[in-house]
Amino acid sequence: MASRKRRSAQWFGREGKMGFIYRSWVKNRGVPQDQFDGRPVIGICNTYSELTPCNSHFRTLAEHVKTGVVEAGGFPLEFPVMSLGETLLRPTAMLYRNLASMDVEESIRGNPIDGVVLLMGCDKTTPSLVMGASSVDLPTIGVSGGPMLSGWYRGERIGSGTNVWSLSEQLRAGEITREEFHEAETCMHRSHGHCMTMGTASTMASMVEALGLGLPGNAAYPAVDARRNVIARMAGRRIVEMVKEDLKLSRILTREAFENAIRVNAAIGGSTNAVIHLIAIARRIGVELNLDDWDKLGRGVHTLVNLMPNGKYLMEDFCYAGGLPVVIRELGERGLLHRDALTANGRTIWDNSKDARNDNPEVIMPFAKPFKRDTGIAVLRGNLCPDGALIKPSAATPRLMKHKGRAVVFEDIEDFHRRIEDPKLDIDESCVMVLKNCGPKGYPGMAEVGNMALPAKILERGITDMVRISDARMSGTAYGTVVLHVAPESAAGGPLALVKEGDEIELDVGRRKLHLHVSDAELAKRRAAWKKPKPHLTRGYWKLYVDHVNQASDGADLDFLVGKSGAAVPRDNH
Ligand code: FES
Repeated sequence: MASRKRRSAQWFGREGKMGFIYRSWVKNRGVPQDQFDGRPVIGICNTYSELTPCNSHFRTLAEHVKTGVVEAGGFPLEFPVMSLGETLLRPTAMLYRNLASMDVEESIRGNPIDGVVLLMGCDKTTPSLVMGASSVDLPTIGVSGGPMLSGWYRGERIGSGTNVWSLSEQLRAGEITREEFHEAETCMHRSHGHCMTMGTASTMASMVEALGLGLPGNAAYPAVDARRNVIARMAGRRIVEMVKEDLKLSRILTREAFENAIRVNAAIGGSTNAVIHLIAIARRIGVELNLDDWDKLGRGVHTLVNLMPNGKYLMEDFCYAGGLPVVIRELGERGLLHRDALTANGRTIWDNSKDARNDNPEVIMPFAKPFKRDTGIAVLRGNLCPDGALIKPSAATPRLMKHKGRAVVFEDIEDFHRRIEDPKLDIDESCVMVLKNCGPKGYPGMAEVGNMALPAKILERGITDMVRISDARMSGTAYGTVVLHVAPESAAGGPLALVKEGDEIELDVGRRKLHLHVSDAELAKRRAAWKKPKPHLTRGYWKLYVDHVNQASDGADLDFLVGKSGAAVPRDNH
């Protein structure tokens, strides 16, 4: 009979009527009695969905995990959770990240699971699963789905997202035909996997590895590389051991692990979305992490990887160059790593990385001769963002990092779309584009619209970047001098709501400053006249979300989800 110590024993180790119920239904697919002998029961949390194209190979991946679990003497039980596809889900997958995390948390806690393998790929599937699992805190290992193979179009690499922006700008500027545009669609995404730029999915897969939650190699092996399946199988084996060792997630997701991840994010030129997700995960597991940690820890860290959207290569190249362990070794050699941080394989992060060999220094540049210098995410403060705002210096234009300009203001994304191509729009490249009402409450869900497209009349003159400011997010595959996550957001009455056409705005990234040159008295007058925008919906999950979502600076989690409830077994229903 099952071990009395394990959670699963409280289901499968029971006798009498309840034991019969718990075991008998599971047996309906041919599970023999010996699987209930107390071996670790491993949940495989699967985000497979055809509506999440980046995770479309997860049935196969789950089979490899199962093989590993069985090989190590465990009993695998796969279960689906809400899957969030970045490209199809409206208004934005971010709106549902917290909902999916609730699904994950309750699915784990309510079931006979001793340890869990998280199968994650597309952007939000990683944070939602890790957040949910953190609130339970069982032994947990992460397996990312892996990036797609490189996109190739007419002899050139084309990267997910990144070249979507450039190709659509080329189409708008009349530089390519519609047929060429459609041809490029087919060439960009030609295998299973998630976006193969260093966008949010690749960033979060790197965070999984840097946090120690995944096995070495987790970030970069392409989805269709046999080594991805090996990682899945090894994770299946390892989680069984982790259960036996009682190696809970909270022993891996420590403050040191988050500090390592923040520095790794700077070194890979990772997505700004990681800031929100890591703060949310940290606060679930009980580690205090805030925006200032990002600014402080990222300082002095250089971007080493020459990957789109900041550079030229793609994740497949990163893999062949040696992948994330090379980056971690570089940081470890410069005192920028907590070397003793424990990882899922039971070794320290340094043991996992210290011998990593760089097989292509053009893709992963050495710290002494980096791709870009001092490129940690910068946290801005000022009267326009009392609770902070972000900019990703590695994706910005250096000459715009210190800039003063006249505001061109869009009240919301519809206003932007309506007016951006209006020939009468008074805008030139020295202006600062401001977008309101795209934050967590305002959109709702904090859409990735912060990198507003420039008007064609400016693009046609060969100008590709301007300072843009909003309470929105930006796709990790996007680039530009884009100030994001302004907090408090405009829909919550933040000063962003008070900006008017023609105001002067000053950005000084070096001094971490974002200032609206409007007097306090005038701002007070505008505040008195400000009216809260009407909510988009007044019922259902949207209402719950808008009523309870925290600001971006606090991870945009729902206020009542912060923290954890643990793994105690709920009472039964019979
Ligand atoms: Fe899924 Fe980019 S759309 S990772």
